[in-house]
Amino acid sequence: MSIMYSCSVPSFSSISVSNFTYRRPNRIICSAGAPVAERKAVNTTEPLLLNAVRGEDVERPPVWLMRQAGRYMKSYQTLCEKHPSFRERSENVDLVVEISLQPWKVFKPDGVILFSDILTPLPGMNIPFDIVKGKGPIIFDPISTAAQVDQVREFSPEEWVPYVGEALTILRKEVNNEAAVLGFVGAPFTLASYVVEGGSSKNFSKIKTLAFSQPKVLHALLEKFTTSMAKYIKYQADNGAQAVQIFDSWATELSPTDFEEFSLPYLKAIVDSVKETHPDLPLILYASGSGGLLERLALTGVDVVSLDWTVDMAEGRKRLGSEIAVQGNVDPGVLFGSKEFISKRIIDTVKKAGNKKHILNLGHGIKVGTPEENVAHFFEVAKGLSY
Ligand code: CP3
Repeated sequence: MSIMYSCSVPSFSSISVSNFTYRRPNRIICSAGAPVAERKAVNTTEPLLLNAVRGEDVERPPVWLMRQAGRYMKSYQTLCEKHPSFRERSENVDLVVEISLQPWKVFKPDGVILFSDILTPLPGMNIPFDIVKGKGPIIFDPISTAAQVDQVREFSPEEWVPYVGEALTILRKEVNNEAAVLGFVGAPFTLASYVVEGGSSKNFSKIKTLAFSQPKVLHALLEKFTTSMAKYIKYQADNGAQAVQIFDSWATELSPTDFEEFSLPYLKAIVDSVKETHPDLPLILYASGSGGLLERLALTGVDVVSLDWTVDMAEGRKRLGSEIAVQGNVDPGVLFGSKEFISKRIIDTVKKAGNKKHILNLGHGIKVGTPEENVAHFFEVAKGLSY
């Protein structure tokens, strides 16, 4: 059955999306044609994002943006001047809370993500790193041998990152269920790619050398990240995270066959382990450029697949099926466009995603240099939507 949408946009009269009519200011109505009276009662005590993931009827898609705290915000830039070290900004409870709340105070997103990094657990696993402005992440002693993998410790979050638990607990109090507090971890393959390459990489030659000449060594490293990240997700949930996103940003550097060997089983093991102890914790999976791997991402058992913008939302939704929730997937570059263009792309994505199980987001993080007022506009339009 094809669903007919009608949307009304208040202050964007020149938008040429079919079936748009005005209703009232700051409300864009996107009706799926289904009678409103048939809707189930909306659970208003839980954050909208959780209700949407669970497939409950919601009034509009929840919205948050990846990298919503960051250099595009003037308040963050000011704080960076005072605290120039990324490690300090992301490992001090007060700073983590302050930075995580910067976008919350300005935009009121439906998800407040912990300010941290996927690399934050590494020192606790005996892998020192830094993030240097202009250079990005640096691993001081990149891993390439079995002896080095042996030196990698299992992560104990309570011992190594107590500030993460403390920050999440404070965030839960501050946000008070008006939004969901989100935690995150790096996926085993993506973490391995950083520690083997020594930092960000263009051609992933070192990790592929390891994968295709000494696969056992890489598997041993991936296993260590799997146990440690499952533990870390549970720790975050126990301390206040209401959903956790797994970033496998570089998994799509792998061919489907190699993804099935070096990423999928480890993601699945993490999901299985978390579901055993935390069956109600929604897990979101993001991989950049995942169009070729979508069906395989769903096989991990996560609750939400986050799409990047190279996949058409309607096609992605079709390929993933209606059981799984989708997140995304507006091109972050759209935020450099006009306000009218931003509105159009939001509406296009929301219409294509349908009125259930969709978290509106970008297809990747907000880019440095994005005008803050355009981010504000994104949230304003998104929060004015109505199915
Ligand atoms: O979404 C959020 O607001 C939470 C913050 C967040 C950061 N890193 C803060 C950060 C999240 C979710 C991450 C995850 C992360 N870190 C990923 C996965 C997401 C993705 O982009 O695919 C990856 C690959 C990393 C590794 C990493 N950390 C990179 C590639 C960089 C950029 C290097 C640079 O100098 O630009 C970082 C540093 C980093 N982590 C920044 C931020 C805001 C930028 C540096 C800064 O502003 O202090």
